[in-house]
Amino acid sequence: MSYITLDGVSKQYGNVWAVDRVNMAIEKKEFVSLLGPSGSGKTTLLRIIAGLEKPTQGRVLIDGEDVTHLPPHLRGVAMVFQEFLLFPHRTVYENLAFPLRMLKLQKGEIEARVEWALGILSLNGLEKRYPNQLSGGQQQRVALGRGLVGRPKVLLLDEPLANLDRELRQEMEVEIRKHQSALGIPFIYVTHNQEEALSMSDRIAVVRGGRIEDFAARTDIYDRPKTAFIAQFVGRSNRFEGIAALQKKQLALRGTGVVIETSARDAIAEGMTAAAYVKNEKIRLRPAEKGADGGANTLFATIKHVILRGAYAEYLLTWKGGEIIASRPRSEVEFKEGAEVVAFWTGEDVDVFPAEKSA
Ligand SMILES: Nc1ncnc2c1ncn2[C@@H]1O[C@H](COP(=O)(O)OP(=O)(O)OP(=O)(O)O)[C@@H](O)[C@H]1O
Ligand SMILES: [Mg+2]
Repeated sequence: MSYITLDGVSKQYGNVWAVDRVNMAIEKKEFVSLLGPSGSGKTTLLRIIAGLEKPTQGRVLIDGEDVTHLPPHLRGVAMVFQEFLLFPHRTVYENLAFPLRMLKLQKGEIEARVEWALGILSLNGLEKRYPNQLSGGQQQRVALGRGLVGRPKVLLLDEPLANLDRELRQEMEVEIRKHQSALGIPFIYVTHNQEEALSMSDRIAVVRGGRIEDFAARTDIYDRPKTAFIAQFVGRSNRFEGIAALQKKQLALRGTGVVIETSARDAIAEGMTAAAYVKNEKIRLRPAEKGADGGANTLFATIKHVILRGAYAEYLLTWKGGEIIASRPRSEVEFKEGAEVVAFWTGEDVDVFPAEKSA
C-alpha cells in the first residue's frame, strides 16, 4: 500500500474538468513533482490533496486513511505557496510559531520546534526580523519552515521558487531536496518549470489538461518520453516532421529535407505523418567536408549564432529545412558564427510519435 493514493480523482468547475480521473500512488520517501503548463490542473490537484478543494469524484488516501472528507487540519499535510504568505507584522519567530499556536501546543514544545526549524533552515540570528527585512531566499526559508514545524506527514509545495531569481532558485532546489531526504516524508512539488522538476524529483508526473500524461522516474521522463507532448515539454529539442516509411526494423521519415532513421515504433504506420524529436545536446557537429554525402540523421548547416551558457555553447544553425539548435560542451571544438558544419545524431537519440498539432 502506498503512502499517498489518489484514486480516480476528478474536479469539475462549470463545464471544465480541471482534474480528470487522476490515479497516483506515492511512496513515503519520495520527492514527486507535478509538472505541466499553466492551467493544466496542478494547483487544483494539490489543493485536493490538502483538503482545500473537494473532488467531484474519487478518493484521497494518506498513510492508509481515507481523508477525502477530512478538513485540511486533520490530514497532517502542510502547504507552501509561491506567494510566501508570511505575516508582515510578525517576526520570523512569530511566523514560525503561528501554526503551532493554532495546534495549541505547549509553550516549551513550540519553542523547541521553532528552534529546530531555525536551525535546519539556517535562520539563526534572524528570528527578531520582520519579513521585509529578509532577502527573498530567507523569506522562502521561513515559509518552508512554517510548513515543516507542524511535522506534517506530507509537504505540498506550489511553485515556491517562482519569485526567486535563477541563482537563488538553484540554491533553494538543493536545499529543499536536502530537507526532504533528511525528513523522510514525501514532498509533492508543483511547477511549470522543467528544470526544477528535474533537479529535485525522484519521479515526475507530467500533467496536461487535468490528466497525468505519464508518471515515471525523472530520467525516464527526460530520456524516454512517452508522448510527443512530453518530448516537446521536457528538455529542449528539435522537431522534424515527415512521412513515415517502414523498412525492416527501421523507420525513415521523408519529406523533411533530412532522412531520419530510428528503430520502428509500434504507433507509427507506413505513410503516416510523424514527428521526430532530437534533444539539442544530442546533436553533434563536425566541420563540413566537401562532396560528402549526407546519409541518414545528418544535415548540412551554417552556424548563425553562438550563445554561451557557461560550460555549454548553444549553436543556432540554419539549414535548408529551417533552424535547429545544437548544445555542445565547450570542451569540444568550438565553431564560429558563419562556419559550415555537418550536424548529426544517432537513431537512438530520436523519439518519434504520430504528429499531433502542437500543444
Ligand atoms: N475556483 C475555480 N473556479 C473555476 N475554474 C477554476 C478554478 N480553479 C481553477 N480553475 C480552472 O481549472 C483549470 C486548472 O487550474 P489550475 O489552477 O489547477 O492550473 P495550474 O496547472 O495550477 O496552472 P498555473 O501553472 O497557471 O498555476 C484552469 O482551466 C482554471 O481556469
Ligand atoms: Mg497553479
